[in-house]
Amino acid sequence: LIKLMQIWNCNIQNTAAVIHVSGYEGRDVNVSCSYGEGYESYEKYLCRNDCGNSDVLITTTKAKKNKYSIYDDKKRRVFTTTLSDLSSVDAGKYWCGVTRTGKDIYTEVRLFVCICQLGDLSGGGPH
Ligand SMILES: *[C@@H]1O[C@H](CO)[C@@H](O)[C@H](O)[C@H]1NC(C)=O
Repeated sequence: LIKLMQIWNCNIQNTAAVIHVSGYEGRDVNVSCSYGEGYESYEKYLCRNDCGNSDVLITTTKAKKNKYSIYDDKKRRVFTTTLSDLSSVDAGKYWCGVTRTGKDIYTEVRLFVCICQLGDLSGGGPH
């Protein structure tokens, strides 16, 4: 059946402002992050793990890179990163960032990848 790659931590979910996103292996997933008024023209990005320079996956300055694309909806103040062709290695911790002078603004994101095994959807189970 569907196997979550990471254990959902209910405590984290309820106490911190962490965005949880899940998608299926081989499919696309959208990671949407909102930001405050006044940041419409700032650069936005998505990064992994500790968000060091080599962890930045994509920025709105270069909207398409490898399996990532990013779109900033300035009217709704939401920027969305699409990760295509998900695989289990994509599961983990990400950050949505807004580049600004001083400390950037970060929102933590946890991505879960669900594995859908071949045959599960074709009715092989009990009737
Ligand atoms: C991701 O967002 C784009 C643009 O809004 C949409 O076309 C696409 O269907 C979305 N994909 C998923 C998996 O939700």
